[in-house]
Amino acid sequence: MKIAVVRGDGIGKEVIPQAVRVLQHYAPDAEYFEADIGYGKWERCGVGCDDDDIESLKGADSILFGAVTTPPDPGYKSVMLRVRKDLGLYANLRPVYGEGFNIMVVRENSEGLYSGIEEIGEERSTTLRVVTKKASERIARCACGILLKDFRNGTLTIGNKANVMKSDVLFRDTCISVAQEMGVPYRTAYIDALTFDAIQNPQRYDVIVTTNLFGDILSDALGHLVGGLGMLPSANIGDRHALFEPVHGSAPDIAGKGIANPIAAVRSAGMLLEHNGIRCQEEIEEAIAAVISSGMKTRDLGGTADTVSFANALMDRLSSGG
Ligand code: NAI
Ligand code: MG
Repeated sequence: MKIAVVRGDGIGKEVIPQAVRVLQHYAPDAEYFEADIGYGKWERCGVGCDDDDIESLKGADSILFGAVTTPPDPGYKSVMLRVRKDLGLYANLRPVYGEGFNIMVVRENSEGLYSGIEEIGEERSTTLRVVTKKASERIARCACGILLKDFRNGTLTIGNKANVMKSDVLFRDTCISVAQEMGVPYRTAYIDALTFDAIQNPQRYDVIVTTNLFGDILSDALGHLVGGLGMLPSANIGDRHALFEPVHGSAPDIAGKGIANPIAAVRSAGMLLEHNGIRCQEEIEEAIAAVISSGMKTRDLGGTADTVSFANALMDRLSSGG
């Protein structure tokens, strides 16, 4: 197995080395290589991610990705959007789980409001929201597949805003057709009310499929249920490639201090391993719970531990077999 490691910017550089320890624990014989992409590279070389970087990422079986800074400069092209596009990573899976709930946000990752088709002017700027039947069908199949495969026995929630945006009628109705065809129980919900309700009553939700921007916002908001962004892992899946990354960004406000919570990155590493057939998630979750209940927590969770001490404690648990 060949694994590409991208630390990226900010706290990506701090949490990814800790997550790599977990990868190496479970996959000591895998081949690891680092790819340098992100804003830091752009500052040094004038390009955040070049063709060679994309080629080397394509050579990996899976990619562990930290976070990259995207400055609000209109001239800067998002590295993350390029990677997702060039590698065909159309499905963004963002699990949020805790006591009594297990939600999987399945976010369409290739179009919607992140289509990148924009016209920027002094007086008027527009971003084109693209919804295609093909991409909606593809993501709906992925979401229904997760419901069926993982024996979740739940209902597919189709998050949309079709009452206001007609482009979402196509998304919603395509998802409904796929759910019917695959025999998956479904319901539709408007994304705004859905976000509030899922935070109030997470146990009512199972797989939630939605468009790009809505999925981005919904999954960050659901972080409230589990202690914050430092807890949320994700997978970006395509037909040929797979990239695993924490949901959080480069967190410039705490970068360089060594205090970032590595759990999101570690869980992303767990998703990577499971994707490659290595069972580990249960053990990793047990170890995380044990370390937290021993009183060791990073500051975002109300503790005082730094990134490395938390990871050391976690590795001790994993090495001693729980
Ligand atoms: P962010 O996720 O980096 O940070 C939001 C807040 O959560 C901050 O207060 C931060 O300190 C806290 N936080 C995030 N992860 C944490 C962790 N592991 N431990 C403790 N606290 C944590 O989002 P923000 O500030 O909106 O974006 C910062 C930069 O990251 C921007 O340039 C943005 O474009 C980029 N970004 C990149 C992503 C990616 O690479 N996939 C995803 C989201 C944002
Ligand atoms: Mg986000």
